[in-house]
Amino acid sequence: MHQTVIVIDGGSPTVQLLGRYVRESGVYCEIIPCQKVTQELIQQYLNKNLKGIILAGPQHCDSQDYATIAPKYVFEAGVPILAVAGSMPAMAAQVGSNLNVHVRCSRNDNSVTTAQIRARGHTALLDGIQDHTNSEGHGLLFVALETSFCLSEVPDNFVLMASTDDFPIAGIANEEKGLYGIQFYPELNITSQGAAIINRFVRTICGCVGDWRMSDYINEAIETIRAQVGDDQVILGLSGGVDSSVAATLIHKAIGNQLTCVFVDHGLLRLNESKQVLDMFGSNIGINIIHVDASDRFMTQLSGVTDPEEKRKIIGREFVEVFQEHANSIPGAKWLAQGTIYPDVIESATTGPNKGVAVKSHHNVGGLPDTLHLSLLEPLRDLFKHEVRDLGIALGLPHSMVYRHPFPGPGLGVRILGEIKVQYAEILRHADSIFIEELRNSTNNSTGKSWYDSVSQAFAVFVPVRSVGVTDHGRAYEYVIALRAVETVDYMTAQWANIPYSLLNRVSERIIAEVSGVSRVVYDISGKPPATIEWE
Ligand code: XMP
Repeated sequence: MHQTVIVIDGGSPTVQLLGRYVRESGVYCEIIPCQKVTQELIQQYLNKNLKGIILAGPQHCDSQDYATIAPKYVFEAGVPILAVAGSMPAMAAQVGSNLNVHVRCSRNDNSVTTAQIRARGHTALLDGIQDHTNSEGHGLLFVALETSFCLSEVPDNFVLMASTDDFPIAGIANEEKGLYGIQFYPELNITSQGAAIINRFVRTICGCVGDWRMSDYINEAIETIRAQVGDDQVILGLSGGVDSSVAATLIHKAIGNQLTCVFVDHGLLRLNESKQVLDMFGSNIGINIIHVDASDRFMTQLSGVTDPEEKRKIIGREFVEVFQEHANSIPGAKWLAQGTIYPDVIESATTGPNKGVAVKSHHNVGGLPDTLHLSLLEPLRDLFKHEVRDLGIALGLPHSMVYRHPFPGPGLGVRILGEIKVQYAEILRHADSIFIEELRNSTNNSTGKSWYDSVSQAFAVFVPVRSVGVTDHGRAYEYVIALRAVETVDYMTAQWANIPYSLLNRVSERIIAEVSGVSRVVYDISGKPPATIEWE
Protein backbone atom coordinates (compact mmCIF):
# COMPACT_ATOMS: atom_id res chain seq x y z
CA MET A 1 0.00 0.00 0.00
CA HIS A 2 1.42 3.37 -1.03
CA GLN A 3 2.21 5.96 1.60
CA THR A 4 -0.49 8.59 1.24
CA VAL A 5 -0.96 12.28 1.88
CA ILE A 6 -4.49 13.62 1.65
CA VAL A 7 -5.43 17.13 0.66
CA ILE A 8 -8.64 18.30 2.30
CA ASP A 9 -10.22 20.79 -0.09
CA GLY A 10 -11.89 23.59 1.79
CA GLY A 11 -12.66 25.43 -1.45
CA SER A 12 -9.23 26.25 -2.81
CA PRO A 13 -9.41 27.22 -6.49
CA THR A 14 -6.00 25.67 -7.09
CA VAL A 15 -6.32 22.49 -5.08
CA GLN A 16 -5.45 20.28 -8.06
CA LEU A 17 -2.10 21.99 -8.48
CA LEU A 18 -1.38 21.29 -4.83
CA GLY A 19 -2.17 17.61 -5.33
CA ARG A 20 0.00 17.58 -8.40
CA TYR A 21 3.02 18.90 -6.47
CA VAL A 22 2.60 16.14 -3.89
CA ARG A 23 2.51 13.52 -6.63
CA GLU A 24 5.54 15.10 -8.30
CA SER A 25 7.38 14.49 -5.04
CA GLY A 26 6.76 10.79 -5.61
CA VAL A 27 4.02 10.58 -2.98
CA TYR A 28 0.53 9.25 -3.62
CA CYS A 29 -2.12 11.79 -2.79
CA GLU A 30 -5.89 12.09 -2.88
CA ILE A 31 -8.01 15.21 -2.81
CA ILE A 32 -11.17 15.10 -0.70
CA PRO A 33 -13.78 17.86 -0.41
CA CYS A 34 -13.97 18.98 3.22
CA GLN A 35 -17.70 18.26 3.36
CA LYS A 36 -16.97 14.56 2.82
CA VAL A 37 -14.35 14.27 5.55
CA THR A 38 -15.38 12.40 8.70
CA GLN A 39 -13.48 10.96 11.61
CA GLU A 40 -14.13 7.46 10.25
CA LEU A 41 -12.73 8.43 6.87
CA ILE A 42 -9.54 9.74 8.47
CA GLN A 43 -9.28 6.46 10.39
CA GLN A 44 -9.67 4.49 7.15
CA TYR A 45 -6.83 6.46 5.61
CA LEU A 46 -4.71 5.94 8.72
CA ASN A 47 -5.25 2.20 8.29
CA LYS A 48 -4.11 2.63 4.67
CA ASN A 49 -0.75 4.27 5.41
CA LEU A 50 -1.70 7.93 5.80
CA LYS A 51 1.45 9.99 6.40
CA GLY A 52 0.26 13.60 6.31
CA ILE A 53 -2.60 15.99 5.67
CA ILE A 54 -2.70 19.26 3.72
CA LEU A 55 -5.58 21.61 4.40
CA ALA A 56 -6.29 23.61 1.25
CA GLY A 57 -8.35 26.47 2.53
CA PRO A 58 -10.63 28.79 0.66
CA GLN A 59 -9.34 32.28 -0.08
CA HIS A 60 -11.79 33.87 2.30
CA CYS A 61 -13.06 32.08 5.32
CA ASP A 62 -15.30 33.03 8.17
CA SER A 63 -14.86 31.71 11.67
CA GLN A 64 -18.06 29.67 11.43
CA ASP A 65 -16.39 27.66 8.60
CA TYR A 66 -13.34 26.72 10.65
CA ALA A 67 -14.76 23.41 11.87
CA THR A 68 -15.55 22.32 8.30
CA ILE A 69 -12.27 23.42 6.79
CA ALA A 70 -10.10 22.14 9.62
CA PRO A 71 -12.09 19.66 11.76
CA LYS A 72 -10.62 19.13 15.22
CA TYR A 73 -10.18 15.36 14.80
CA VAL A 74 -7.64 15.79 11.98
CA PHE A 75 -5.28 17.31 14.54
CA GLU A 76 -5.63 14.16 16.62
CA ALA A 77 -4.70 11.85 13.75
CA GLY A 78 -1.04 11.96 14.78
CA VAL A 79 0.27 12.93 11.33
CA PRO A 80 1.86 16.25 10.27
CA ILE A 81 -0.48 18.91 8.92
CA LEU A 82 0.18 21.77 6.52
CA ALA A 83 -2.53 24.42 6.53
CA VAL A 84 -2.49 26.60 3.43
CA ALA A 85 -3.94 30.12 3.06
CA GLY A 86 -7.47 30.39 4.55
CA SER A 87 -7.02 27.20 6.55
CA MET A 88 -4.09 28.70 8.51
CA PRO A 89 -6.31 30.75 10.87
CA ALA A 90 -8.78 27.86 10.92
CA MET A 91 -6.06 25.53 12.19
CA ALA A 92 -4.85 28.05 14.76
CA ALA A 93 -8.36 28.49 16.12
CA GLN A 94 -9.13 24.77 16.11
CA VAL A 95 -6.08 23.77 18.10
CA GLY A 96 -7.26 25.90 20.94
CA SER A 97 -5.95 29.41 20.68
CA ASN A 98 -7.99 32.51 21.34
CA LEU A 99 -7.22 34.10 18.07
CA ASN A 100 -7.81 37.48 16.57
CA VAL A 101 -8.12 37.44 12.80
CA HIS A 102 -8.67 40.68 10.95
CA VAL A 103 -10.56 40.37 7.73
CA ARG A 104 -8.83 42.68 5.30
CA CYS A 105 -10.94 42.60 2.19
CA SER A 106 -14.28 41.45 0.88
CA ARG A 107 -15.07 38.18 -0.84
CA ASN A 108 -15.15 39.69 -4.28
CA ASP A 109 -11.71 41.24 -4.20
CA ASN A 110 -8.81 39.54 -5.87
CA SER A 111 -6.83 39.01 -2.73
CA VAL A 112 -3.75 37.13 -3.95
CA THR A 113 -0.66 39.24 -4.44
CA THR A 114 3.04 38.77 -5.02
CA ALA A 115 5.04 39.38 -1.86
CA GLN A 116 8.43 38.70 -0.47
CA ILE A 117 8.36 36.90 2.85
CA ARG A 118 11.13 36.50 5.33
CA ALA A 119 11.47 32.95 6.62
CA ARG A 120 12.01 33.00 10.37
CA GLY A 121 12.92 30.64 13.11
CA HIS A 122 14.51 28.00 10.89
CA THR A 123 11.57 25.63 11.06
CA ALA A 124 11.96 22.28 9.37
CA LEU A 125 9.51 23.37 6.68
CA LEU A 126 11.43 26.40 5.38
CA ASP A 127 14.94 25.83 6.66
CA GLY A 128 17.39 26.44 3.80
CA ILE A 129 14.63 27.06 1.26
CA GLN A 130 14.95 30.58 -0.10
CA ASP A 131 15.18 32.63 -3.27
CA HIS A 132 17.98 34.74 -1.81
CA THR A 133 19.23 36.08 1.52
CA ASN A 134 19.22 39.66 2.82
CA SER A 135 22.24 41.46 4.25
CA GLU A 136 21.49 40.02 7.71
CA GLY A 137 21.49 36.51 6.34
CA HIS A 138 17.71 35.94 6.52
CA GLY A 139 16.15 33.79 3.82
CA LEU A 140 13.70 35.60 1.54
CA LEU A 141 11.08 33.98 -0.65
CA PHE A 142 8.78 35.29 -3.35
CA VAL A 143 5.26 34.00 -2.70
CA ALA A 144 1.65 34.29 -3.86
CA LEU A 145 0.34 35.76 -0.62
CA GLU A 146 -3.29 35.58 0.49
CA THR A 147 -4.14 39.07 1.77
CA SER A 148 -7.79 38.68 2.73
CA PHE A 149 -6.97 38.17 6.40
CA CYS A 150 -4.26 38.97 8.89
CA LEU A 151 -3.41 37.24 12.16
CA SER A 152 -2.83 39.74 14.95
CA GLU A 153 -0.88 37.41 17.21
CA VAL A 154 1.02 34.16 17.07
CA PRO A 155 -1.31 31.48 18.48
CA ASP A 156 -0.42 29.71 21.73
CA ASN A 157 2.17 26.95 21.34
CA PHE A 158 3.11 28.13 17.84
CA VAL A 159 6.22 29.99 16.70
CA LEU A 160 6.47 32.58 13.98
CA MET A 161 7.69 31.02 10.73
CA ALA A 162 7.32 33.76 8.11
CA SER A 163 6.44 37.43 7.86
CA THR A 164 6.25 40.45 5.59
CA ASP A 165 6.11 44.12 6.58
CA ASP A 166 2.33 44.21 6.10
CA PHE A 167 1.62 40.70 7.33
CA PRO A 168 3.86 40.14 10.34
CA ILE A 169 2.39 36.68 10.94
CA ALA A 170 2.38 35.01 7.52
CA GLY A 171 3.53 31.58 8.67
CA ILE A 172 3.25 29.66 11.94
CA ALA A 173 4.52 26.34 13.23
CA ASN A 174 4.10 24.00 16.17
CA GLU A 175 6.93 21.66 15.33
CA GLU A 176 6.39 19.35 18.26
CA LYS A 177 2.97 18.45 16.89
CA GLY A 178 4.03 18.71 13.23
CA LEU A 179 1.63 21.58 12.50
CA TYR A 180 2.53 24.21 9.91
CA GLY A 181 0.49 27.11 8.56
CA ILE A 182 1.39 29.29 5.59
CA GLN A 183 -0.49 32.33 4.38
CA PHE A 184 0.64 31.79 0.81
CA TYR A 185 -0.08 29.36 -2.01
CA PRO A 186 2.87 27.05 -2.63
CA GLU A 187 1.10 25.67 -5.70
CA LEU A 188 1.03 28.97 -7.63
CA ASN A 189 3.87 29.79 -10.03
CA ILE A 190 4.64 33.05 -8.23
CA THR A 191 5.84 31.02 -5.26
CA SER A 192 9.06 29.98 -6.91
CA GLN A 193 10.05 27.58 -4.09
CA GLY A 194 6.55 26.08 -3.87
CA ALA A 195 7.54 22.64 -5.16
CA ALA A 196 10.50 22.55 -2.75
CA ILE A 197 8.25 23.44 0.19
CA ILE A 198 5.73 20.72 -0.63
CA ASN A 199 8.56 18.29 -1.20
CA ARG A 200 10.00 19.21 2.21
CA PHE A 201 6.64 18.70 3.86
CA VAL A 202 5.83 15.32 2.37
CA ARG A 203 9.32 13.80 2.20
CA THR A 204 11.06 15.21 5.28
CA ILE A 205 8.30 16.18 7.70
CA CYS A 206 5.81 13.41 6.86
CA GLY A 207 8.68 10.99 6.21
CA CYS A 208 7.39 9.65 2.90
CA VAL A 209 9.98 7.66 0.97
CA GLY A 210 8.64 8.44 -2.51
CA ASP A 211 7.06 5.10 -3.40
CA TRP A 212 4.79 6.48 -6.14
CA ARG A 213 6.54 6.00 -9.50
CA MET A 214 4.93 5.47 -12.88
CA SER A 215 7.36 2.73 -13.90
CA ASP A 216 6.26 0.68 -10.85
CA TYR A 217 2.65 1.69 -11.32
CA ILE A 218 2.41 -0.12 -14.69
CA ASN A 219 2.71 -3.57 -13.12
CA GLU A 220 0.27 -2.69 -10.39
CA ALA A 221 -2.25 -1.33 -12.90
CA ILE A 222 -1.88 -4.39 -15.13
CA GLU A 223 -2.61 -6.73 -12.21
CA THR A 224 -5.66 -4.66 -11.25
CA ILE A 225 -7.03 -4.68 -14.81
CA ARG A 226 -6.55 -8.44 -15.14
CA ALA A 227 -8.25 -9.08 -11.82
CA GLN A 228 -11.17 -6.79 -12.72
CA VAL A 229 -11.78 -8.04 -16.24
CA GLY A 230 -10.97 -11.75 -16.02
CA ASP A 231 -11.77 -13.37 -19.39
CA ASP A 232 -14.28 -10.72 -20.49
CA GLN A 233 -14.09 -8.61 -23.62
CA VAL A 234 -13.46 -4.85 -23.31
CA ILE A 235 -14.39 -2.01 -25.70
CA LEU A 236 -12.68 1.37 -25.78
CA GLY A 237 -13.50 4.51 -27.77
CA LEU A 238 -10.11 5.55 -29.12
CA SER A 239 -9.88 9.21 -30.11
CA GLY A 240 -6.14 9.51 -30.65
CA GLY A 241 -5.92 11.92 -27.70
CA VAL A 242 -3.41 11.28 -24.93
CA ASP A 243 -5.81 9.84 -22.36
CA SER A 244 -7.60 7.30 -24.53
CA SER A 245 -4.31 6.34 -26.21
CA VAL A 246 -2.52 5.66 -22.91
CA ALA A 247 -5.56 3.80 -21.55
CA ALA A 248 -5.70 1.63 -24.69
CA THR A 249 -1.98 0.82 -24.55
CA LEU A 250 -2.11 -0.04 -20.84
CA ILE A 251 -5.19 -2.22 -21.17
CA HIS A 252 -3.76 -3.94 -24.24
CA LYS A 253 -0.62 -4.72 -22.27
CA ALA A 254 -2.79 -6.27 -19.58
CA ILE A 255 -5.29 -8.28 -21.62
CA GLY A 256 -4.11 -8.25 -25.27
CA ASN A 257 -6.80 -9.35 -27.70
CA GLN A 258 -9.59 -9.09 -25.18
CA LEU A 259 -9.51 -5.36 -25.97
CA THR A 260 -11.19 -3.91 -29.07
CA CYS A 261 -10.99 -0.20 -29.81
CA VAL A 262 -13.58 1.65 -31.83
CA PHE A 263 -12.11 4.63 -33.63
CA VAL A 264 -14.81 6.93 -35.01
CA ASP A 265 -13.60 9.35 -37.66
CA HIS A 266 -16.15 12.19 -37.80
CA GLY A 267 -14.34 13.87 -40.68
CA LEU A 268 -13.17 16.69 -38.43
CA LEU A 269 -9.77 15.32 -37.49
CA ARG A 270 -6.42 16.93 -38.25
CA LEU A 271 -4.37 16.17 -41.37
CA ASN A 272 -3.37 12.47 -41.54
CA GLU A 273 -4.63 11.90 -37.99
CA SER A 274 -6.69 8.87 -38.88
CA LYS A 275 -3.76 7.16 -40.56
CA GLN A 276 -1.43 8.01 -37.66
CA VAL A 277 -3.81 6.47 -35.13
CA LEU A 278 -4.31 3.32 -37.19
CA ASP A 279 -0.57 2.93 -37.87
CA MET A 280 0.44 3.50 -34.28
CA PHE A 281 -2.15 1.42 -32.45
CA GLY A 282 -3.10 -1.08 -35.14
CA SER A 283 0.08 -1.84 -37.08
CA ASN A 284 2.72 -1.00 -34.42
CA ILE A 285 1.16 -2.06 -31.14
CA GLY A 286 -1.22 -4.64 -32.58
CA ILE A 287 -4.43 -3.52 -30.89
CA ASN A 288 -7.72 -4.69 -32.47
CA ILE A 289 -9.25 -1.55 -33.95
CA ILE A 290 -12.57 -1.06 -35.67
CA HIS A 291 -12.11 2.01 -37.83
CA VAL A 292 -15.41 3.72 -38.64
CA ASP A 293 -15.28 6.39 -41.33
CA ALA A 294 -18.47 8.25 -40.50
CA SER A 295 -17.53 11.58 -42.08
CA ASP A 296 -20.41 11.58 -44.59
CA ARG A 297 -22.92 10.92 -41.85
CA PHE A 298 -21.56 13.74 -39.67
CA MET A 299 -21.39 16.18 -42.57
CA THR A 300 -24.98 15.44 -43.54
CA GLN A 301 -26.21 16.04 -40.00
CA LEU A 302 -24.19 19.25 -39.70
CA SER A 303 -25.27 20.68 -43.03
CA GLY A 304 -26.72 24.17 -42.64
CA VAL A 305 -26.08 24.31 -38.86
CA THR A 306 -24.29 27.45 -37.71
CA ASP A 307 -24.89 27.68 -33.95
CA PRO A 308 -21.80 26.49 -32.00
CA GLU A 309 -23.77 24.76 -29.24
CA GLU A 310 -26.02 23.06 -31.78
CA LYS A 311 -22.94 21.84 -33.69
CA ARG A 312 -21.43 20.43 -30.50
CA LYS A 313 -24.67 18.65 -29.61
CA ILE A 314 -24.99 17.08 -33.06
CA ILE A 315 -21.40 15.87 -33.06
CA GLY A 316 -21.81 14.47 -29.53
CA ARG A 317 -25.08 12.71 -30.34
CA GLU A 318 -23.86 11.23 -33.62
CA PHE A 319 -20.65 10.07 -32.01
CA VAL A 320 -22.55 8.15 -29.35
CA GLU A 321 -24.85 6.58 -31.92
CA VAL A 322 -22.05 5.48 -34.24
CA PHE A 323 -20.04 4.16 -31.31
CA GLN A 324 -23.00 2.26 -29.95
CA GLU A 325 -23.80 0.61 -33.29
CA HIS A 326 -20.27 -0.76 -33.50
CA ALA A 327 -19.90 -1.60 -29.84
CA ASN A 328 -23.04 -3.73 -30.03
CA SER A 329 -21.40 -5.78 -32.76
CA ILE A 330 -18.59 -6.98 -30.49
CA PRO A 331 -19.71 -10.29 -29.03
CA GLY A 332 -19.38 -10.86 -25.32
CA ALA A 333 -18.27 -7.31 -24.47
CA LYS A 334 -18.84 -6.63 -20.78
CA TRP A 335 -16.63 -3.61 -20.16
CA LEU A 336 -16.42 -0.11 -21.51
CA ALA A 337 -12.95 1.34 -20.97
CA GLN A 338 -12.52 5.10 -20.74
CA GLY A 339 -9.57 7.43 -20.37
CA THR A 340 -11.09 9.26 -17.38
CA ILE A 341 -8.34 10.94 -15.37
CA TYR A 342 -8.17 12.21 -11.79
CA PRO A 343 -9.08 15.87 -12.47
CA ASP A 344 -12.33 14.57 -14.05
CA VAL A 345 -13.05 12.67 -10.85
CA ILE A 346 -12.20 15.30 -8.26
CA GLU A 347 -15.18 17.13 -6.94
CA SER A 348 -13.84 20.47 -5.84
CA ALA A 349 -15.46 22.03 -2.81
CA THR A 350 -15.03 25.43 -4.42
CA THR A 351 -18.05 27.62 -4.14
CA GLY A 352 -16.71 30.61 -6.03
CA PRO A 353 -18.97 32.77 -8.14
CA ASN A 354 -18.13 30.96 -11.40
CA LYS A 355 -18.47 27.47 -10.04
CA GLY A 356 -20.74 25.37 -12.19
CA VAL A 357 -21.24 27.99 -14.89
CA ALA A 358 -20.76 26.20 -18.20
CA VAL A 359 -19.36 28.60 -20.76
CA LYS A 360 -19.52 25.90 -23.41
CA SER A 361 -20.87 22.38 -23.27
CA HIS A 362 -17.71 20.30 -23.59
CA HIS A 363 -18.39 17.12 -25.42
CA ASN A 364 -15.65 14.70 -24.61
CA VAL A 365 -15.37 11.77 -26.93
CA GLY A 366 -15.66 8.90 -24.53
CA GLY A 367 -18.46 10.40 -22.43
CA LEU A 368 -20.78 7.56 -23.36
CA PRO A 369 -24.20 6.85 -21.91
CA ASP A 370 -25.06 3.87 -19.73
CA THR A 371 -27.50 2.46 -22.32
CA LEU A 372 -24.69 0.18 -23.44
CA HIS A 373 -25.12 -1.77 -20.17
CA LEU A 374 -21.41 -2.22 -19.80
CA SER A 375 -19.33 -1.93 -16.64
CA LEU A 376 -16.82 0.89 -16.61
CA LEU A 377 -13.10 0.25 -16.69
CA GLU A 378 -11.14 3.43 -15.94
CA PRO A 379 -7.50 2.55 -15.34
CA LEU A 380 -6.31 6.19 -15.32
CA ARG A 381 -8.81 7.56 -12.84
CA ASP A 382 -6.17 7.97 -10.11
CA LEU A 383 -3.74 9.86 -12.33
CA PHE A 384 -3.11 13.52 -13.04
CA LYS A 385 -2.40 14.53 -16.63
CA HIS A 386 1.36 14.73 -16.14
CA GLU A 387 1.27 11.20 -14.71
CA VAL A 388 -0.73 9.93 -17.68
CA ARG A 389 2.03 11.36 -19.87
CA ASP A 390 4.77 9.73 -17.75
CA LEU A 391 2.85 6.47 -17.98
CA GLY A 392 2.56 6.84 -21.77
CA ILE A 393 6.33 7.28 -22.03
CA ALA A 394 6.95 4.36 -19.66
CA LEU A 395 4.66 2.26 -21.90
CA GLY A 396 6.84 3.14 -24.91
CA LEU A 397 4.54 5.61 -26.70
CA PRO A 398 6.46 8.26 -28.69
CA HIS A 399 7.09 11.68 -27.12
CA SER A 400 5.34 13.45 -30.02
CA MET A 401 2.14 11.54 -29.25
CA VAL A 402 2.26 11.76 -25.48
CA TYR A 403 2.99 15.50 -25.46
CA ARG A 404 0.48 16.37 -28.16
CA HIS A 405 -1.61 19.48 -27.52
CA PRO A 406 -5.19 18.88 -26.38
CA PHE A 407 -7.70 18.52 -29.19
CA PRO A 408 -11.41 19.02 -28.51
CA GLY A 409 -13.84 16.14 -28.98
CA PRO A 410 -15.79 17.99 -31.73
CA GLY A 411 -12.44 18.48 -33.49
CA LEU A 412 -12.23 21.00 -36.30
CA GLY A 413 -15.99 21.43 -35.89
CA VAL A 414 -15.34 24.17 -33.31
CA ARG A 415 -12.53 25.68 -35.37
CA ILE A 416 -14.61 26.26 -38.50
CA LEU A 417 -16.78 29.21 -37.57
CA GLY A 418 -20.43 28.85 -38.49
CA GLU A 419 -21.49 26.20 -40.98
CA ILE A 420 -19.09 23.31 -41.49
CA LYS A 421 -18.31 22.42 -45.09
CA VAL A 422 -15.95 19.79 -46.46
CA GLN A 423 -14.07 22.46 -48.43
CA TYR A 424 -13.56 24.56 -45.27
CA ALA A 425 -12.31 21.52 -43.35
CA GLU A 426 -9.78 20.78 -46.07
CA ILE A 427 -8.45 24.35 -46.09
CA LEU A 428 -8.23 24.37 -42.30
CA ARG A 429 -6.49 20.99 -42.08
CA HIS A 430 -3.84 22.13 -44.52
CA ALA A 431 -3.26 25.52 -42.84
CA ASP A 432 -3.18 23.94 -39.38
CA SER A 433 -0.61 21.34 -40.45
CA ILE A 434 1.70 24.11 -41.74
CA PHE A 435 1.41 26.04 -38.47
CA ILE A 436 2.10 22.94 -36.37
CA GLU A 437 4.99 21.81 -38.58
CA GLU A 438 6.68 25.20 -38.27
CA LEU A 439 6.19 25.24 -34.49
CA ARG A 440 7.70 21.78 -34.21
CA ASN A 441 10.68 22.76 -36.35
CA SER A 442 11.54 26.03 -34.55
CA THR A 443 13.44 26.27 -31.30
CA ASN A 444 12.48 28.62 -28.51
CA ASN A 445 15.91 29.83 -27.45
CA SER A 446 14.83 30.69 -23.92
CA THR A 447 13.59 27.16 -23.15
CA GLY A 448 15.70 25.16 -25.61
CA LYS A 449 12.51 23.32 -26.57
CA SER A 450 10.59 23.51 -29.83
CA TRP A 451 7.97 26.23 -30.04
CA TYR A 452 5.39 23.44 -30.21
CA ASP A 453 6.53 22.09 -26.84
CA SER A 454 6.86 25.62 -25.41
CA VAL A 455 3.19 26.53 -25.85
CA SER A 456 0.25 24.72 -24.28
CA GLN A 457 -2.01 24.64 -27.30
CA ALA A 458 -1.74 25.93 -30.87
CA PHE A 459 -4.02 25.60 -33.85
CA ALA A 460 -5.51 27.35 -36.85
CA VAL A 461 -9.09 28.57 -37.14
CA PHE A 462 -11.08 28.91 -40.36
CA VAL A 463 -12.85 32.27 -40.60
CA PRO A 464 -15.51 32.14 -43.31
CA VAL A 465 -15.05 35.78 -44.24
CA ARG A 466 -13.49 36.75 -47.52
CA SER A 467 -11.03 39.57 -47.84
CA VAL A 468 -9.28 41.11 -50.78
CA GLY A 469 -5.70 40.23 -51.62
CA VAL A 470 -3.26 40.49 -54.49
CA THR A 471 -1.61 37.38 -55.87
CA ASP A 472 0.55 36.57 -58.89
CA HIS A 473 -2.69 35.96 -60.75
CA GLY A 474 -4.20 39.31 -59.88
CA ARG A 475 -6.90 40.25 -57.40
CA ALA A 476 -7.94 37.54 -54.95
CA TYR A 477 -11.03 37.46 -52.77
CA GLU A 478 -10.46 34.62 -50.36
CA TYR A 479 -10.83 33.31 -46.82
CA VAL A 480 -9.07 34.23 -43.59
CA ILE A 481 -7.09 31.88 -41.35
CA ALA A 482 -6.54 32.87 -37.72
CA LEU A 483 -3.65 31.37 -35.77
CA ARG A 484 -4.08 30.78 -32.04
CA ALA A 485 -1.33 29.76 -29.60
CA VAL A 486 -1.70 29.99 -25.83
CA GLU A 487 0.19 29.36 -22.65
CA THR A 488 -1.71 28.02 -19.70
CA VAL A 489 -1.44 25.62 -16.79
CA ASP A 490 -5.06 24.91 -16.04
CA TYR A 491 -6.80 25.84 -19.33
CA MET A 492 -9.23 27.93 -17.29
CA THR A 493 -7.14 31.04 -17.86
CA ALA A 494 -4.62 31.49 -20.66
CA GLN A 495 -2.28 34.05 -22.21
CA TRP A 496 -1.61 34.31 -25.93
CA ALA A 497 1.87 33.02 -26.68
CA ASN A 498 4.60 35.47 -27.57
CA ILE A 499 5.76 33.66 -30.70
CA PRO A 500 8.55 35.45 -32.62
CA TYR A 501 7.43 37.60 -35.54
CA SER A 502 9.85 35.79 -37.85
CA LEU A 503 8.13 32.48 -37.12
CA LEU A 504 4.64 33.95 -37.56
CA ASN A 505 5.79 35.53 -40.78
CA ARG A 506 7.05 32.20 -42.14
CA VAL A 507 3.79 30.48 -41.24
CA SER A 508 1.74 33.24 -42.84
CA GLU A 509 3.78 33.21 -46.06
CA ARG A 510 3.56 29.46 -46.34
CA ILE A 511 -0.18 29.31 -45.70
CA ILE A 512 -0.93 31.98 -48.29
CA ALA A 513 1.40 30.38 -50.85
CA GLU A 514 0.46 26.75 -50.25
CA VAL A 515 -3.20 26.70 -49.23
CA SER A 516 -5.51 27.65 -52.02
CA GLY A 517 -8.50 29.68 -50.90
CA VAL A 518 -6.65 31.71 -48.24
CA SER A 519 -5.43 35.27 -48.84
CA ARG A 520 -5.00 36.55 -45.28
CA VAL A 521 -3.57 35.19 -42.01
CA VAL A 522 -4.07 36.85 -38.60
CA TYR A 523 -2.72 36.06 -35.13
CA ASP A 524 -5.14 35.98 -32.20
CA ILE A 525 -3.88 38.13 -29.30
CA SER A 526 -6.79 37.63 -26.92
CA GLY A 527 -6.33 36.28 -23.43
CA LYS A 528 -8.71 33.99 -21.58
CA PRO A 529 -10.74 35.49 -20.03
CA PRO A 530 -12.50 37.06 -21.75
CA ALA A 531 -11.85 35.05 -24.95
CA THR A 532 -12.01 31.28 -24.66
CA ILE A 533 -9.19 29.22 -26.12
CA GLU A 534 -11.31 27.77 -28.92
CA TRP A 535 -13.16 30.25 -31.09
CA GLU A 536 -16.49 28.46 -30.71
P1 XMP B 1 -12.06 26.84 -24.04
O1 XMP B 1 -12.33 27.05 -25.48
O2 XMP B 1 -13.30 26.52 -23.25
O3 XMP B 1 -11.15 25.54 -23.97
O4 XMP B 1 -11.26 27.94 -23.43
C1 XMP B 1 -10.47 25.04 -22.85
C2 XMP B 1 -9.86 23.71 -23.26
O5 XMP B 1 -10.91 22.77 -23.53
C3 XMP B 1 -10.83 22.30 -24.86
N1 XMP B 1 -12.20 22.23 -25.37
C4 XMP B 1 -12.89 21.09 -25.53
N2 XMP B 1 -12.54 19.80 -25.30
N3 XMP B 1 -14.67 19.12 -26.04
C5 XMP B 1 -13.44 18.82 -25.59
O6 XMP B 1 -13.14 17.64 -25.43
C6 XMP B 1 -15.09 20.38 -26.29
O7 XMP B 1 -16.22 20.61 -26.71
C7 XMP B 1 -14.15 21.42 -26.02
N4 XMP B 1 -14.20 22.77 -26.12
C8 XMP B 1 -12.99 23.24 -25.72
C9 XMP B 1 -10.00 23.33 -25.61
O8 XMP B 1 -9.38 22.75 -26.76
C10 XMP B 1 -9.03 23.77 -24.53
O9 XMP B 1 -7.96 22.85 -24.40
